[in-house]
Amino acid sequence: MTPAPTALPGGTWNLGDHTVTRFGYGAMQLAGPSVIGPPADHDAAIAVLRNAVAQGITHIDTSEAYGPRITNELIREALHPYPASLLIATKVGATRDTEGGWPTARRPDDLRQQVHENLESLGVKSLDLVNMRMGDATGPSPGSITEAFETLAELQEQGVIRHLGVSNVTAEQVADAREVAPVVCVQNMYNLAHRHDDLLIDDLAADGIAYVPFSPLGGFAPLQAAALSAVATRLNATPMAVALAWLLQRSANILLIPGTSKVTHLRENITGASLTLSAQDVAELDRISGGMSRSSSAVLRRRSTS
Ligand SMILES: NC(=O)c1ccc[n+]([C@@H]2O[C@H](COP(=O)([O-])OP(=O)(O)OC[C@H]3O[C@@H](n4cnc5c(N)ncnc54)[C@H](OP(=O)(O)O)[C@@H]3O)[C@@H](O)[C@H]2O)c1
Repeated sequence: MTPAPTALPGGTWNLGDHTVTRFGYGAMQLAGPSVIGPPADHDAAIAVLRNAVAQGITHIDTSEAYGPRITNELIREALHPYPASLLIATKVGATRDTEGGWPTARRPDDLRQQVHENLESLGVKSLDLVNMRMGDATGPSPGSITEAFETLAELQEQGVIRHLGVSNVTAEQVADAREVAPVVCVQNMYNLAHRHDDLLIDDLAADGIAYVPFSPLGGFAPLQAAALSAVATRLNATPMAVALAWLLQRSANILLIPGTSKVTHLRENITGASLTLSAQDVAELDRISGGMSRSSSAVLRRRSTS
């Protein structure tokens, strides 16, 4: 029997015309090691996806490049036909090579092909949300997003894509994409220790655009910091719980997509993210990167010169 959905921490957010839970799920960790090949435990991967939806999660992040194709096929096997409430976000702009690298593939024909592959592996006629991925896992890289985003906007006009977002981008690339078509979300790397986007998050919040931090727990290198451990110990919580609760409290436009291959971790993360952090907790956590003070002073500087 499917368990009744838990009240997910963070409430909901509107991605275009689709309301999603702010607590979502990132499916990249379901593929094999280095995001290549099938998972070691196929049934466990299926169980994580079904549990995520049973817990009430309505936002799952994926990519045809995970596996490649494997993660999308697992999502289809576990959840198709998809509940109307579920939004599956995918991304295009990179493929995989035989060494497990992520070569960029952003020419119009590459993008059309990747969109087509996502449609096929997910088993849908239109994709809920496609992120145009520009940089790589290390961060954004310079270069024009315009032609690539125009290609996705054409596919959106044809009804093949419902909503568009951008990923691994600079603030300038976000602005350029928005000149082409509405952007409902920005997916960049951001967490307690990696806060280069503090200012961008505030700007997007002001414009009603979601910010979806990838690697919210540190990705392949889990977050570790003395201040994080100290706050977690004081609250009798795990560092992961504190890291997720901090993101939910950081800004209402932040949507979580923590990754895990384990049902136990999925449940721990859902429960843990409902922690309430005090002003003192947040001030201590800000010392990990100096991020908030940098953001605040940058905002103040900008406002005073505008
Ligand atoms: N746009 C992009 O370029 C890009 C890049 C990277 C990721 N993403 C997306 O962002 C999502 C999240 O990022 P991510 O998966 O890289 O990193 P993450 O969510 O920061 O961390 C995932 C790691 O944390 C571990 N973990 C999760 N919950 C845990 C818990 N309660 N206790 C202990 N360990 C725990 C997982 O291991 P277990 O499996 O053992 O739980 C996994 O190794 C991805 O799944 C993907 O959808 C996008």
